[in-house]
Amino acid sequence: MNMRTRVGIIGAGPAGLMLSLLLSREGIDSIILERRDREEIEATIRAGVLEQGTVDLMTEMGLDERMKREGLVHHGIELRFDGEGHRIHLSELTNGRAFTVYPQHEVLKDLIAARLNEGGQILFNVKDVQLADISSSQPRIHFSREHEQSELQCDFIAGCDGFHGVSRPSLPEAEQHVFTRTYPFGWLGILMQAPPSADELIYAYSERGFALISTRSPDLQRMYIQCDPDDDIANWSDEMILEELQARLATTNNWQLRVGPITQKSILAMRSFVIEPMQYGRLFLAGDAAHIVPPTGAKGLNLAVADVRHLAHALKMSYTQNRAELLEAYSTTCLRRVWRAEHFSWWMTSMLHRFPDDDTFYPRLQRAQLEYTVRSRAAATSLAENYVGLPFTW
Ligand code: FAD
Ligand code: PHB
Repeated sequence: MNMRTRVGIIGAGPAGLMLSLLLSREGIDSIILERRDREEIEATIRAGVLEQGTVDLMTEMGLDERMKREGLVHHGIELRFDGEGHRIHLSELTNGRAFTVYPQHEVLKDLIAARLNEGGQILFNVKDVQLADISSSQPRIHFSREHEQSELQCDFIAGCDGFHGVSRPSLPEAEQHVFTRTYPFGWLGILMQAPPSADELIYAYSERGFALISTRSPDLQRMYIQCDPDDDIANWSDEMILEELQARLATTNNWQLRVGPITQKSILAMRSFVIEPMQYGRLFLAGDAAHIVPPTGAKGLNLAVADVRHLAHALKMSYTQNRAELLEAYSTTCLRRVWRAEHFSWWMTSMLHRFPDDDTFYPRLQRAQLEYTVRSRAAATSLAENYVGLPFTW
């Protein structure tokens, strides 16, 4: 089967779905090809934190109905170390900006429903996706679906297929300039059926390693602890996880973790990764396909949204005014903000985790940095403006 569209989008994650919605508002048609089925996408637990700019964009686009009802607006976070909590008043430090906890899979449900409701095409369960002729003006995507071979002809391809997708490896090797760092730790993440233990997210630094208390809803909580990235989740009983959380979060004023059944647990590795440039010929990479941040700064989903906002605007200018310069500048424009978020995420990660190969010098530096961050308004403001999110055009 042969099909044609203006923008062929690979991947129905936050990047791909948001791009197709932004394009449709400009009258530019697109088709999304997605490897997984809809149920799986809508059930995968990932990010939780939406920057102010992401929330504003969803609101402008009329995609905010459920987010406004079910999302939890946060005006601060807590940094906890040496048994004491210190509030960073994000809104006071950033002229009233805030972030919203609204799970990624809920965002995806809203975006998928919105795109299908307006008659958009999302082809789920596609297999064997391959890109062809990306340096020509008529790039194509080959794929199979229900055992039928198909070809999608397009003007542009948006590679929104995440870190393990096929788009990035389609760039000629000589064009792939990769900058990367892996960390000697991972995160063990859990979902727990319990009431919130705190009103705000807690980022805790302790001798036993990092811990994070986040939330999903009034009766479902999301928590993470630093662990060995190569550990097997089967080695962690629920009791061990609870014990670690309690030890790492313990305070001098007897704060209590509210506990309940753990309904999900998994381990994820942490890395920083950027490919430059984010474009080759008619292929434009966006989101995790082009860059990865460790989750400590809560930036991944938000960066994906920022990328496609630039891409949609650049495509609009190219189609409606025949102006190609924004498309040509796409990679440079995105990378400026990407590297800022890479730095922030690396900085938060470095300040809050125990590094297994240094238990003397580095912890002293971390404590000095934590104290500076909570005691200096300038340092707290720097954390706050990065956390709630810098302007899309940076
Ligand atoms: P993805 O969400 O990975 O979507 C890519 C899509 O492409 C997938 O649906 C995939 O199935 C599809 N695909 C892949 N290969 C192919 C193929 N060959 N053919 C067709 N389709 C394909 N970010 C935040 O901003 N805030 C947070 O609080 C946060 N917390 C996180 C916590 C965890 C535990 C994790 C794992 C991540 C977290 N992130 C967070 C990061 C965030 O989830 C990602 O950055 C975000 O999902 C990136 O979106 P994307 O659309 O670029 O890629
Ligand atoms: C989450 O709620 O999943 C979450 C929150 C903050 C982070 C990372 C993940 O930094």
